[in-house]
Amino acid sequence: MHDVKPTTGDTSWFTHDRFGLFIHWGLYALAARHEWVQNNEQIPPEEYEAKYFKHFDPDLYDPEEWAKAASNAGMKYFVVTTKHHEGFCLWDTMLTDYKSINTPCGRDLIRPMVEAFRNHNMRVGLYHSLIDWHHPNYTIQSIHPLRNHPDKDKLNEGRDLSEYREYLHGQVREILTRFGRVDVLFLDFSYGDKGRDAWDSERLVELIRELQPQIILNDRLDLQDVEGGWDIRTPEQFLPRKWVEVNGQKVVWETCQTFSGSWGYHRDESSWKSVDQLVRMLIEVVSMGGNLLLNVGPTGRGEFDARALDRLQGMGEWMKRHDRSIYGCTQAPDEFTAPQDCRLTYNPETNRMYVHIFAWPFRHLHLDGFRDRVEYAQLLNDASEVPLSTVPEHERQYGDADARTLTLNLPVVRPDVAVPVVELYMK
Ligand code: GLC
Repeated sequence: MHDVKPTTGDTSWFTHDRFGLFIHWGLYALAARHEWVQNNEQIPPEEYEAKYFKHFDPDLYDPEEWAKAASNAGMKYFVVTTKHHEGFCLWDTMLTDYKSINTPCGRDLIRPMVEAFRNHNMRVGLYHSLIDWHHPNYTIQSIHPLRNHPDKDKLNEGRDLSEYREYLHGQVREILTRFGRVDVLFLDFSYGDKGRDAWDSERLVELIRELQPQIILNDRLDLQDVEGGWDIRTPEQFLPRKWVEVNGQKVVWETCQTFSGSWGYHRDESSWKSVDQLVRMLIEVVSMGGNLLLNVGPTGRGEFDARALDRLQGMGEWMKRHDRSIYGCTQAPDEFTAPQDCRLTYNPETNRMYVHIFAWPFRHLHLDGFRDRVEYAQLLNDASEVPLSTVPEHERQYGDADARTLTLNLPVVRPDVAVPVVELYMK
């Protein structure tokens, strides 16, 4: 139907499932003011360690609760930070002591998480930071807490990036061999002075494809122009206006988004999106053939905070009755255009079209080009019939529609759901 660039990794489940949970968790949860706090406030590694590594104790951590909250929201996969830019590792790596086992928490946090989410039938994804502000051989350039250190050049003399590269490859090998099948690998990220040479990206991709041939790899290794160097494009914290393309061809894509701006737990941020906004975002994304990866930053005690739970629960309320317009759905075929204030998704397997109504119209919703194409229509929230008609004669004289227009006869009162959806059984 749509001509989409094939991927090396297996994206067949991915383009069906559409909706996943991102988890950003690390020492920065204690600072509670952005996961980049170490860089933003230029905190030297020793000081960061003394404050947060020494005091990390998520005593209320229960991955079963997390998996339940995500699954109830309608999410089908999750992607968790094994290590973020701060360098702290959440699994029991053999390659550094800078890991959760050695904090007061004293445990591997990834393994029980993977198991809990699997038990809820969710696919497993791992995020791993290419950047590392803790490793003694990671050279100090533009993005680093010590970038303005008076002895920066001297510090760099003692740093050997090739040592860091081996460490990076070793850790990727670990996370891809310790937890069974991994469905998604999200590596983050390349920038100005560090890209494919710094990471030896091509060799890293070979290793990844060898260890987990089905894995879906994101696009941040600075290999945009290399065949097989990435599977999915990942626009972050904004919405593209149409299906993401590379060299004029549609590609598999996923946008990652936060609830409030920060990825790590941020206590004082007040820019939380509403449930309505988030539901619309999900619809918008699927109507352009993409996926939504929505992030929670758990607290330092190991919980999803009340605001996050509220949003997840609200999305779940909507998904419970409307997930048919999301799972297995994609952008409508090109011949159909969405009416004003609406978004279309289409399920090619069932041949049903979904009209998501962002602004409730008065009684009539006119679908241009749909005449003779629809067999039956109903509201998705309660399966109540939406009668079909041609445009009434007395309205047609005002030039509101042509012979190809189909009219949906909606109730005056808008259904009380985040976004009402009409399901069209197509002929
Ligand atoms: C950015 C940020 C980061 C976050 C990521 C998610 O690249 O560096 O903090 O983890 O986006 O995609």
